[in-house]
Amino acid sequence: MLVRIELKDVEIGMFVHAFEGSWFDHPFWRRYFRVETQEQLDRIRNSDIDGIIIDDERGRGPADGREPDAPAQMQRAARAPASGRGQGKAKPVRTAAVFSPPHSPADEASRRRTGYVGECRRAKRTIDRTCAAVVDMFDDARLGRAIGVRRMVRLAGTIGASIERDSKALINLVRLKEKDEYTYLHSVAVCALMINFARHLELDPQQVEDLGVAGLLHDIGKVAVSDQILNKPGGLSKDEMRSVRSHPVAGYRLLASSPGAPALALELCLRHHEKVDGTGYPGGLKGDELSLAARMGAICDVYDAVTSNRPYKRAWTPCEALTAMKQWEGHFDPVLLDRFADSLGIYAVGTLVRLSTGELGIVVGSTGEADEDVVVRAFFDCAMLAEIEPVDRAIAPSAEHPRIVGRDSPSFWRFDDWETLRARLLAPPEAREAAVGEGRPIGPRGLA
Ligand SMILES: [Fe+2]
Repeated sequence: MLVRIELKDVEIGMFVHAFEGSWFDHPFWRRYFRVETQEQLDRIRNSDIDGIIIDDERGRGPADGREPDAPAQMQRAARAPASGRGQGKAKPVRTAAVFSPPHSPADEASRRRTGYVGECRRAKRTIDRTCAAVVDMFDDARLGRAIGVRRMVRLAGTIGASIERDSKALINLVRLKEKDEYTYLHSVAVCALMINFARHLELDPQQVEDLGVAGLLHDIGKVAVSDQILNKPGGLSKDEMRSVRSHPVAGYRLLASSPGAPALALELCLRHHEKVDGTGYPGGLKGDELSLAARMGAICDVYDAVTSNRPYKRAWTPCEALTAMKQWEGHFDPVLLDRFADSLGIYAVGTLVRLSTGELGIVVGSTGEADEDVVVRAFFDCAMLAEIEPVDRAIAPSAEHPRIVGRDSPSFWRFDDWETLRARLLAPPEAREAAVGEGRPIGPRGLA
């Protein structure tokens, strides 16, 4: 349980979940940690922050007389219903959010007022500020200065807060980058994708934050590669390729000498170009040899690369990107790739989905201004257990009805020859304009 306590009540053994007041005023670069030394305790007690929120399941509880190192379950068992001193001072904090930088009630009210459009405006400012900081960081690295990790932690926190308010706004905006902005905005995008993915996987809040920071830092080794090579439109020579392939190790070395860089950032920096079949670089690691961070990072890195405009190719839509990535056997962890798609609400072409209309449909493409709407060809009535005349429905991500309930299983519905049925459904229907139904019928803009 999260509990708010006064600074004077903080003790060694407590697990800090958040600092109250301005995040800029708190005396640590990490947001989540266990208080383990007298020096940490003194810094907290002497800081300008107003209060502190602790997690009593991950460390010592508030003034309950337990030993600092007692395991959490033992601590919970030891908590008497009316355990004496200090109970009146500690206030439980209601929060189910993962990676939740403290928000003021004003923040919450503002979010409700402004909705998606308002969050896009805030997200744009966050992207601009973070991009400028990433440019500074690359410049510092080129000049041999230390990486400002603390600044990156703060910015990852701001990006995490935006995603917590609205998971789509910042991620949709940062995808729409121009060719010359790619190197720096790619770091911002990977940060946002990693945070969103990690939240979806319900990872520990500290891991969510560290993976966000890792996203900002993962390509720092590109300072060792010339812009001419990075932005070259055509193919690369052997030497140029060798230079590009040196960036994970170069980045790792830079971060290893930067105080405060999270271990997950070093891991992501070194391993984001590995593949599960062992054909990646620099280590050629495969399968279980690759950490969760490495496997997540490989997906986020490639997804942002292929959905961005590059000097040598136009951006793919999210649906096109996922469809292609699922076909690159041996590149990504397939289970994680599905979880990543779920985290963004995107579907590969040919995926069987169930709709809130009670129909089954097959994903045929995407449409809309930012290709956010999924086009589903509904073909089966679940109540009647019968095929219906196929109709294309454009489903907006925020739509209440019709909406995609989730992926479904062809074998559950006994589509014995699913591949043949899928091929037939993906073929362009002759009379699409005749389609009717509650969803928005669309023109021929799907991928089929
Ligand atoms: Fe990279």
